[in-house]
Amino acid sequence: MTRIFIIGGTGHIGGAVLHKTVEMYPDASATVLVRDEQKAKRLASKYPSAQPLVGDLESFELIEVTSREADIVINAGPDITHDKAIEAVIRGLKNRPTKGYYIHTAGASTLWDEPTGSREARTWDDDEDIQDIITVAKDLNKPHSVTDNLVRDAADEVHVAIISPGFVGGMSPSIEHPTPITTPGIVRTARAFKTPFRIAQGENRHSWIHVEDLADMYVLLVTKALASDQSCWGREAYYFGAAETIDFNGMMQGLSPVLLKHDVFEGAEMRSVGMEDAAKACLYGDNYTEESVPPPADSWAIEISILFGVNMPLRATRMAKLGWKAQKGPIVGTFDEVFSSFLRSEREAVDKDKA
Ligand SMILES: NC(=O)c1ccc[n+]([C@@H]2O[C@H](COP(=O)([O-])OP(=O)(O)OC[C@H]3O[C@@H](n4cnc5c(N)ncnc54)[C@H](OP(=O)(O)O)[C@@H]3O)[C@@H](O)[C@H]2O)c1
Repeated sequence: MTRIFIIGGTGHIGGAVLHKTVEMYPDASATVLVRDEQKAKRLASKYPSAQPLVGDLESFELIEVTSREADIVINAGPDITHDKAIEAVIRGLKNRPTKGYYIHTAGASTLWDEPTGSREARTWDDDEDIQDIITVAKDLNKPHSVTDNLVRDAADEVHVAIISPGFVGGMSPSIEHPTPITTPGIVRTARAFKTPFRIAQGENRHSWIHVEDLADMYVLLVTKALASDQSCWGREAYYFGAAETIDFNGMMQGLSPVLLKHDVFEGAEMRSVGMEDAAKACLYGDNYTEESVPPPADSWAIEISILFGVNMPLRATRMAKLGWKAQKGPIVGTFDEVFSSFLRSEREAVDKDKA
């Protein structure tokens, strides 16, 4: 029986990966790292065939032993600052009697340009541009580069592949995180500005992918591993998770009616903002004023505001060559369900606190 160990399997991405893996390979044994007993119970009740394993990304010994016992490890948890957990996965897989498989999640922020809201930018192709992508990651100050290098350096002893998503959207079957990780930051910023916003002219472009299409990429690699297909692993096995590219104005156009409907926006007039204001808006939400103190440089609010202004146009050529094709429609078509669901669960949490 094939043994698959999933890290981050309760997440927006990892939950979709778990769901599709269990659906496609019901006879495989899936062990899922979860952070507490409550999550373990909820996971086991939705996926009776999966085995929750309580621990976190500091449980190095547990991660190493479980990786050694697995044929395939899928890590859909956060990579940045979690080098030691990734080293534990790699140590475990290196100590297997046969060469194991590691599917790692990174992110295309390694390649972000300056957050100026302008259109002029390089489109990155994960096939044609792979040598440049590897070279950029040699700068250890770039996001994801430390862990990308750890994974690449293990390629002689472990079959490795890195999936590097752009902007991930859509509803996930995740038991804990059905809406995308970026949703709260977008909503807080929208609450601060109260109208549609953009950095400068909002001409910068992002590649997006529906979380279910992204999960299909992981399952395709699992299928390749099960078939002992050696062609899709190694130092250069870097796969963008990207399906379509839209500019920030287009994204805002899709989002505005939804946020107007929910009274997050009070009007439809577009407002051009600077980076510092976007970061403050993202941190303070309703309590934002132009005089608010800016967030710290390494904060999530800064990360989100930079995301608003950068270009991230990506081509997922490698996955297309393996036969992957996006099945979901345009990402703006998911905004109503995603943001309505997020705002509903926010209201429910407030009502629960009051009760
Ligand atoms: N979503 C995107 O747009 C995007 C784009 C590019 C790259 N990525 C990368 O993909 C990763 C996953 O994204 P996501 O959207 O699925 O995030 P998410 O919904 O927040 O899921 C993160 C998963 O990792 C688990 N986790 C977080 N910290 C952990 C820790 N210290 N120990 C053990 N488990 C931990 C979470 O467990 P809990 O359920 O207990 O919280 C959850 O299962 C991101 O961290 C990022 O590196 C995401």
